[in-house]
Amino acid sequence: MTLTDRIGQMREYFLHELSGLTTAKDLESLKLKYFGKKGSIQALMMELKECSSNERPLFGKMINDLKEELAAHCENSLTRVKAEELKARLQEEKIDPTLPGRRQFSGRSHPVVQLLDRAVDILIGMGFSVRLGPNADTDFYNFGGLNFPEDHPARDMQDTFYLNHEWLLRTHTSNVQVHAMEEMEPPIRVIAPGRCFRNETISARSHVFFHQIEGFYIDRGVSFADLFATMEEFWSKLLGEKVETRFRPSYFPFVEPGLEVDVKCTSCKGKGCKLCKQTGWLEVCGAGMVHPNVLKMGNIDPDVYSGYAWGMGIERLAILQHGIPDIRMFTQNDLRFLSQF
Ligand code: PHE
Repeated sequence: MTLTDRIGQMREYFLHELSGLTTAKDLESLKLKYFGKKGSIQALMMELKECSSNERPLFGKMINDLKEELAAHCENSLTRVKAEELKARLQEEKIDPTLPGRRQFSGRSHPVVQLLDRAVDILIGMGFSVRLGPNADTDFYNFGGLNFPEDHPARDMQDTFYLNHEWLLRTHTSNVQVHAMEEMEPPIRVIAPGRCFRNETISARSHVFFHQIEGFYIDRGVSFADLFATMEEFWSKLLGEKVETRFRPSYFPFVEPGLEVDVKCTSCKGKGCKLCKQTGWLEVCGAGMVHPNVLKMGNIDPDVYSGYAWGMGIERLAILQHGIPDIRMFTQNDLRFLSQF
């Protein structure tokens, strides 16, 4: 068969195949079959090599013309079929604009996290930097390095989740004080937000895990006055109004003297109400001057340096702020509760 015959035959085959196709998908595969790298047109081109040099330009032109002709057929058919397919789809698809819309639920931070974030932002603004965890720590970081005597009741199995004879789940964020002293040189100005664990009976007022933020500052000449000023500034910023603070003596083995910090009740301004149980004050955190023994164990000379520390429970504070009746609500994942914050 001559090349001319072959060209004519290919045109015929192509038109025959094309006439049977009705979908864009089939047309695309037909295109590939003829115009692809291993397609029929390319195969014809390869045969040009075998033509004599005076035939070659003529046959070359014939193949090119065929190619253009077939390509035009393909494109026309594709355009037509695509339009038909679109029309069919539009006829089939129905939109009912009277249907009610789908409500989009947007997530938000948990109220405890919201309060944590806000407190952390304020403290960063006051010059503190954040140090996290660990949640599982050794007896030394949670107790020993914080001047807890061997027989202190807080070490009792009732309060602490022990993982083995040495490791435990931290009962407070104060463990970060010991880590910070190990890793840093004074001035040390850190806060430690995070989760704490205590082996207590779960009730409306207490849970086996909760959150605290620890604040810790060690430098030359840090005094009680610095602690007072920091507390007043921080609590005023966090509660969104200038609050009055009050300090009562208290006991924690790692501070001396130890204090309990109260702020004047934000609800009754000190007159006495349900929120403050008629006392006019809200108890917000434990605090004190870092005990010299704690500094010594942290390789910091208590004759040169002094420091203060405070620690506050976040759930307790959120409960106070929002009047939440039960601490368990924070962990029940009830959207009716959570979406209010
Ligand atoms: N760690 C103490 C607690 O969990 C709080 C505290 C921190 C007290 C720092 C004094 C100084 O109750």
